[in-house]
Amino acid sequence: MITIKPTSQNLWDIVAESYIFFVNESLDSESDNANFTKIQEYYPQVKAVLKKHNFEGKQGQSYILTAMQNDRLVEFIFVGLGKHTKSWDVELEKLRRAIGNVTLLLKKHGLRSAAIGLPEEKPYNISRAELLKQLIVTMHMANYEFNVYKTKEPKKDWQCDVSFVVDASEEKALAASANHGMIMGEAINQARHWADLPANIMTPTALADEAEKIAKQYKLKCTIFGRDEAEKLGMGAFLAVDAGSDQPGKFVILEHKAASKDAQTIALLGKGVMFDTGGISLKQSDFMTGMKYDMSGAAAVIASMKIFAQLNPDINVVGITPLVENMPSGKAARQDDIVTAMNGKSIEIKSTDAEGRLILSDAMCYAEKFHKPDIMIDIATLTGACLYALGYFYSGLMTQDEELMKVLPEIGKKTGDRIWPLPLDDDFKAANNSLVADLANVGCRSYKAGTITAGCFLSEFVDKARWAHIDIAGTADGVPGNISYLGKTSAGAGIRLLVDFVLNFKH
Ligand code: BES
Ligand code: ZN
Ligand code: ZN
Repeated sequence: MITIKPTSQNLWDIVAESYIFFVNESLDSESDNANFTKIQEYYPQVKAVLKKHNFEGKQGQSYILTAMQNDRLVEFIFVGLGKHTKSWDVELEKLRRAIGNVTLLLKKHGLRSAAIGLPEEKPYNISRAELLKQLIVTMHMANYEFNVYKTKEPKKDWQCDVSFVVDASEEKALAASANHGMIMGEAINQARHWADLPANIMTPTALADEAEKIAKQYKLKCTIFGRDEAEKLGMGAFLAVDAGSDQPGKFVILEHKAASKDAQTIALLGKGVMFDTGGISLKQSDFMTGMKYDMSGAAAVIASMKIFAQLNPDINVVGITPLVENMPSGKAARQDDIVTAMNGKSIEIKSTDAEGRLILSDAMCYAEKFHKPDIMIDIATLTGACLYALGYFYSGLMTQDEELMKVLPEIGKKTGDRIWPLPLDDDFKAANNSLVADLANVGCRSYKAGTITAGCFLSEFVDKARWAHIDIAGTADGVPGNISYLGKTSAGAGIRLLVDFVLNFKH
């Protein structure tokens, strides 16, 4: 547990077990931040000490110096920021990773309080409020661990109070940002926990129950239905994926209402395949491992709705998550089956492993029919091809909407939830032609570009909304490179992006 508050006290007047300092590479005084200057004034030999211990301020480097301060032994924690660059987004990401490293160190050493000057916002191109919020979100993310099943490891009940030093004039306003950051950090980690839970625990019913609990606690409207209602609505695509499992599928709708009558509506749709065996088109076992994360899109949407419920933006937001388990069985859909989605389009199932686009197609029809969204964004671990195209650090963005194509990657740079465009030209659409139905659920091999053809498939279910598709197959879990705040399991991909988009949406 980390609690964080901004304070206008002088850094040295704060009674804490540790004091944190960010340092640029080569201990370069030109790019020294104000905080490092503070410790130099207090402790003039500090540069010599750091040099002696080979601490150069490289990214990922840290050094802990135990010292006496006002008759107390305290830790001065120095964390490297690496070389100074001219790009604000690179600088911001370095700062996020550095604060992630700080969090890991505080935790490792069981430190229960820390004081830290809020860095100047100038190199980062964002407001003080945004900077503080991001640092807090990142500290929470770095503190996340999935250890509930490690029965032999003693659970450390680590609690840390972090004080960020700010100017007196901004203290009050920044307290709101700190709270905002904590709400976001907690919800992101909750989504990561849901994603990390294996499919024998995290069933469609279990995640639907989580959504319902959130709705009750934070007063969101919540609608949940299963197979019977889906049948009445004509959701043949959703039902085809659901059919093979003994775990009944659930369709979950959470609604946040704006205060203004004329507010626009944003629909967020998340792929919720609790486990993807591939179905009858069974995956080879090496490729099946990790498919518990195939509901990361749904987790992101439900967590985002929890955040909106608490922050109450003046815009209507509806979160829609079809939750199923993709299993092979005597009841499962087969290759060659033809099913009909809610908008009447028939789909030839060429592979039961291309199930995400099937459940999302009905979710999109449902959103269009019952919520008439102005904007619709879906987020899904949709294609392995996205991993080949963009790797682990960037989610794929597909849209024909110019504004969304401009805004979303910028938000990605700002929040650290990075996203990169792939072209959704109409030329790719013919890849989904079927000899026997309106559409095939797998793009014709000669077209390649599996991520884009999947996006084109989804585009067939957009009616009036401005729409964007986000593929998080690469970014949802197992991000390599020891990024301090992402860990090795679920990364909570897309939540910072969606939340920032909604909160800053201009009518
Ligand atoms: N859930 C997978 C996509 C995936 C793969 C996510 C790897 C994360 C990591 C999706 O349902 C799937 O199986 N897609 C197929 C589509 C193909 C059959 C057209 C794929 O990518 O191979
Ligand atoms: Zn699949
Ligand atoms: Zn899948």
